[in-house]
Amino acid sequence: MKIRSYAAGRLIRGTSLVLMTVVLASCATGRIDPTDPVGENAKQIDGLMRLSGYMAAAVGIFVAIAVVLVVVKFRERPDDDPDELPKQIHGNRKAELTWTLIPVVLLVFLTVVTVPAVFDLSGKGDGRTIKVEAQQWWWQFSYDVDEDGTSDIITANEIVIPVGEEVNLEILSNDVIHSFWIPQLNGKRDAVPGRVHHWRISSPVPGIFYGECVEFCGLSHADMQMRAVVLENDDYDAWVLEQLTPATVPTNDAAKRGYDLFGRHCVSCHVVNGVYESAADGNANLTSGYAPNLTHLMTRTSFAGSVFELYKDDGSVNVADLREWVRNAPGQKAARPENRQGMISFAETLSDSELDDLLTYLLTLGGPPPLMPN
Ligand code: CUA
Repeated sequence: MKIRSYAAGRLIRGTSLVLMTVVLASCATGRIDPTDPVGENAKQIDGLMRLSGYMAAAVGIFVAIAVVLVVVKFRERPDDDPDELPKQIHGNRKAELTWTLIPVVLLVFLTVVTVPAVFDLSGKGDGRTIKVEAQQWWWQFSYDVDEDGTSDIITANEIVIPVGEEVNLEILSNDVIHSFWIPQLNGKRDAVPGRVHHWRISSPVPGIFYGECVEFCGLSHADMQMRAVVLENDDYDAWVLEQLTPATVPTNDAAKRGYDLFGRHCVSCHVVNGVYESAADGNANLTSGYAPNLTHLMTRTSFAGSVFELYKDDGSVNVADLREWVRNAPGQKAARPENRQGMISFAETLSDSELDDLLTYLLTLGGPPPLMPN
């Protein structure tokens, strides 16, 4: 009876483990793929993962076969004396040495191939440096940061890099600990307040690669995603030129009204280069001090921590989601605006026509993006 309930317990535990794995696996967004490395660093990590995986599988198969053989060979036979123990091997030097040395050799081998890779991956390369700042719950990327900390190009959630070039990242955080991960380009690297962590990403092909924050960082941790947009060199140069162009005051009536509304409601957090810069240099009215720089909002493919698409499949702007975001951001993505973590709601503040004007203005802020997600 006891044995049966033990077996039943194991069956239940085993089944729930399988179910849990299936459920958790289905949580992945599908676009974040650690099994398909593209960048050099990601390939290096993938190679090591496979090597240790194959070694573990070989050991597992060997042990499983050995267990079966031992069980069959030393089973109790009908004419055995049940009180007599089989020959004991405790203290058998040959056996002890064998099963100690084999794991030692395997582990030393894994150490020798893995440790240099760990140091190699965290070193600084020769390419350009992009500053990566994490905050609740989105990513900021600053290019060519001057000694005084200012940068001419600041983007949110989407890091744009030229194809074939390995860029250096300087990763830090403006509030709590986050972790940077775009699995097709490289492994995970923590973003820690008060520290700078170096990392490098590159891709030999153009495209959009998806990533997300992988350190639990509060309410919207799961909605702190990002994209790396890898462009051909000509497209990259054009993108840089556009990003370097400051915004101007719109001439169209509705856009001008939206521009004025932006000046009344949005500038305590958001920067638009050339026209609204009071929240620059970490002066946003938020715990982290930063809100997304919106100068070239429409050159991005997504918004709000890359949770919502900025464009629809047909290439037109996803006005509905953007409007709802501006109207009531906390209703679209978990946040604590009362604690200055995340955008506040304007549902009570802005009328429908004011929202329309504000949207009209936002749509003038650059674009469209050089690459669309497929
Ligand atoms: Cu940021 Cu999790």
